[in-house]
Amino acid sequence: MSTSLAWDERYASGDFQFGEAPNRYLEGLRPWIAPGMRALALGDGEGRNGVWLAQQGLVVTALDWSAIGMAKAARLAEARGVTLATVVADAAAWDYPPGGFDLVAWIYLHLPPADRAAAAAGALRSLAPGGLLALECFTPAQQGRRSGGPKDPALLWSRSLVEDLFGELEVLELLEGTVHLDEGPRHQGTAEVVRALLRRG
Ligand SMILES: C[S@@+](CC[C@H](N)C(=O)[O-])C[C@H]1O[C@@H](n2cnc3c(N)ncnc32)[C@H](O)[C@@H]1O
Repeated sequence: MSTSLAWDERYASGDFQFGEAPNRYLEGLRPWIAPGMRALALGDGEGRNGVWLAQQGLVVTALDWSAIGMAKAARLAEARGVTLATVVADAAAWDYPPGGFDLVAWIYLHLPPADRAAAAAGALRSLAPGGLLALECFTPAQQGRRSGGPKDPALLWSRSLVEDLFGELEVLELLEGTVHLDEGPRHQGTAEVVRALLRRG
C-alpha cells in the first residue's frame, strides 16, 4: 500500500526519483500558462513540476503528503532562485481554497478510488473560472510494464475516469495512449498514460 512513509523512504536518497526536469506533457502546455497564474501542483513529490511552474512566473503551491519530498522541493526552488509554497498534506483531505487556483497540475498522482474522488472534488472546487486542470497518469494498459506506476490496478486512470470525475470541465485535450518516459530512475521507457487538459468555463 502507498503511504506517506513509503514515499518518504523513496525520497530519502539524494537522487530525484522522477528527475529534476518537469513532466514533458506539462512542459508542452507552456502556451497555456502565463506569469501570475496561481498554480497548485498536486502530489508534487520532490517538486520538479511545481518548481518549473514557478520558473515560468506562476505563483505556485506544491502539495504532497511526503515531508521529505516537500523539503527537497523547497531546496530545489531555492537552488533555482524561485519561490514555492509547500504544503505537507493528504490530497484527499486538504482544505482546498475555493476558486484559489488558475491551474491544477495532477501529474502521476494515483489514489485509491474514494481518495481520488475526494481529491478530484477538491481540485474542482479550487479551480477559478477559466482555470485549467492538467493531468498525466498511468492507465490499466501500463500493468506489467516496468516503466513505472502503481501495482494496484484500482489506482490507475483512464479517459473515462477523467470524464466521470471532471465532467463539469471543458475538454481541451484528452488522450489515452503510448508515450516514452525518461523521467529519473522511476519513469523510464515505453508507458501507457492518459493526458488531459481541461478548463473551467
Ligand atoms: C509517482 S509520484 C509523482 C510525483 C510528482 N507528481 C512527479 O511527477 O514528479 C506520486 C506522488 O504522490 C504523492 N501522494 C500519493 N498519495 C498522496 C496523498 N494521498 N496525498 C498527497 N500526496 C500523495 C506521493 O507522496 C508522491 O510524491
